[in-house]
Amino acid sequence: MSLLLNSSFTGASSACLLHRERSRRRRLRVPGVTCRQGSNDDRSDAARQKQSPLLLDRRDILLGGLGGLYGVTAGPKVLAAPIMPPDLSTCHPATAPALDNKCCPPYDPSETISEYGFPATPLRVRRPAHLMKDDQEHLDKYKEAVRRMKNLPAEHPWNYYQQANIHCQYCNDAYFQQNTNDVPVQVHFSWIFLPWHRYYLHFYERILGKLIEDDTFTIPFWNWDTKEGMTFPAIFEDASSPLYDPKRDQRHVTGGKILDLKYAYIENPASDSEIIRENLCFIQKTFKHSQSLAELFMGDPVRAGEKENQEANGQLEVIHNATHAWVGEPDGYKENMGDFSTAARDSVFYCHHCNVDRMWDIYRNLRGNQVEFQDNDWLDSTFLFHDENEQLVKVKIRDCLNPTKLRYTFEQVPLPWLGKINCQKTAETKSKATTELSLTRVGEFGTTAQALDASNPLRVIVARPKKNRKKKEKQEKVEVIQIKDIKVTTNETARFDVYVAVPYGDLAGPDYGEFAGSFMRLAHRKKGNDGTQEQGPKKKGKLKLGITPLLEDLDAEDADKLVITLVLRTGSVTVGGVSINLLQTDAPAVI
Ligand code: C2O
Repeated sequence: MSLLLNSSFTGASSACLLHRERSRRRRLRVPGVTCRQGSNDDRSDAARQKQSPLLLDRRDILLGGLGGLYGVTAGPKVLAAPIMPPDLSTCHPATAPALDNKCCPPYDPSETISEYGFPATPLRVRRPAHLMKDDQEHLDKYKEAVRRMKNLPAEHPWNYYQQANIHCQYCNDAYFQQNTNDVPVQVHFSWIFLPWHRYYLHFYERILGKLIEDDTFTIPFWNWDTKEGMTFPAIFEDASSPLYDPKRDQRHVTGGKILDLKYAYIENPASDSEIIRENLCFIQKTFKHSQSLAELFMGDPVRAGEKENQEANGQLEVIHNATHAWVGEPDGYKENMGDFSTAARDSVFYCHHCNVDRMWDIYRNLRGNQVEFQDNDWLDSTFLFHDENEQLVKVKIRDCLNPTKLRYTFEQVPLPWLGKINCQKTAETKSKATTELSLTRVGEFGTTAQALDASNPLRVIVARPKKNRKKKEKQEKVEVIQIKDIKVTTNETARFDVYVAVPYGDLAGPDYGEFAGSFMRLAHRKKGNDGTQEQGPKKKGKLKLGITPLLEDLDAEDADKLVITLVLRTGSVTVGGVSINLLQTDAPAVI
């Protein structure tokens, strides 16, 4: 295996090499990169001891929780606990049809878990991918690092496909949470989404840097929030490069096609400039509608052991989902990007997520860098990764909130979506909507769940909790559309878009009004024993969309009720209810 890496790797002492020779560890080591202190041979006791604090911590927490549940300790707070990493010995078949449901890493019971030593490098600057073609040196390093990662022994934790499998393990149900046998560890659909992926990228980037012995190495970001970056990044297109992946939708990733951030397996017929405007508006609205309450942008809380909570991703995750679908193959298992189990097998995954991470950083800066959730169940949520020294380390959300602690930052590039763009419907559409009035009666949602129908959007009239809210009230509470009990057929991707309009009395005009946001869930399938595609686990979800600024744009502050329209774009979806509520804000509006 040593031949796979060039001889510029140095640094392992001969004692270290000798130890390695003798090691009974199943995992293969990269010469010259690390040698852990102490012998790994006398595994189990000492080693197990080292790993156990994490497991014990978790049990303590959970017992506290169960105590609360059974009345030993009172108060709902005791029930909650941060998400903890799974017991790595319990990896089991995943919901990963393209991988035959297999993505567990090699398990080494002697491996110990340590605290992560945060890097002390100079601040490393992540650059836009579309500008990397002019930075041949950086691009060459990137390709070389990925090439080396692909050439590592298949079982090595740094191997390209082992790295990709991490995503499958934590997204496709390969682990249950500790002390449960039916609650998967899931890093999407909640407030865990952004921090987990931040760490995942960080370690991937550090490992690539280590493989080329460059402590300043950074991965690029897919700058899809600017016109110049809205096509598939050219550096991933070259079929002879290690960054290439043949399993993509060729119609989208070649020929300068504009990315559609609302993609749902149907081509957007609009012109390029119109799609660009729609994308920028979607990003602008996402920031604007969610700036005063972090969960609207980042996702809802999830706590240890929770089984019945309704998943709610933030709007940033929704934007992110469409890009996954747009890059992956249109058929079959939507490999690689279109299914979470295979997504990270395409190098562009990390480039895409690098921009998602950047969006979080911008959101945070706009909100004065305040901590998004002052809640220990978020801050103490803990993840496990292999670091750039091949050590299995645990990291907490509280330590990744500021990227400078991880020693990276993003190159400053223009943010066209933050400026003035016309994101309201044009005056023309508006007047058309009122001149060609064919009003229809629209009912309330009622109490029974309703299936969405692609050819007949669901339109409901919903009362607002309060109208004519004063500026101060708006600063204290954000008005939010809540759609609950969303059920999808999980072996298909599901998407619906939400529009808001002002009714005429109790009647609705033909126009759906302004776009407020979307629900999107990528397909989550597994392979049945007979090879057929079965559904992944079903869970109810919910959607929350801030509308305070949108109502100002609509001039709707004095409306008692709103017409809310749900337009199904793909998949099968039923929803259990639509309401409008006022939620406490956590930051002032700035844009
Ligand atoms: Cu874990 Cu883009 O997904």
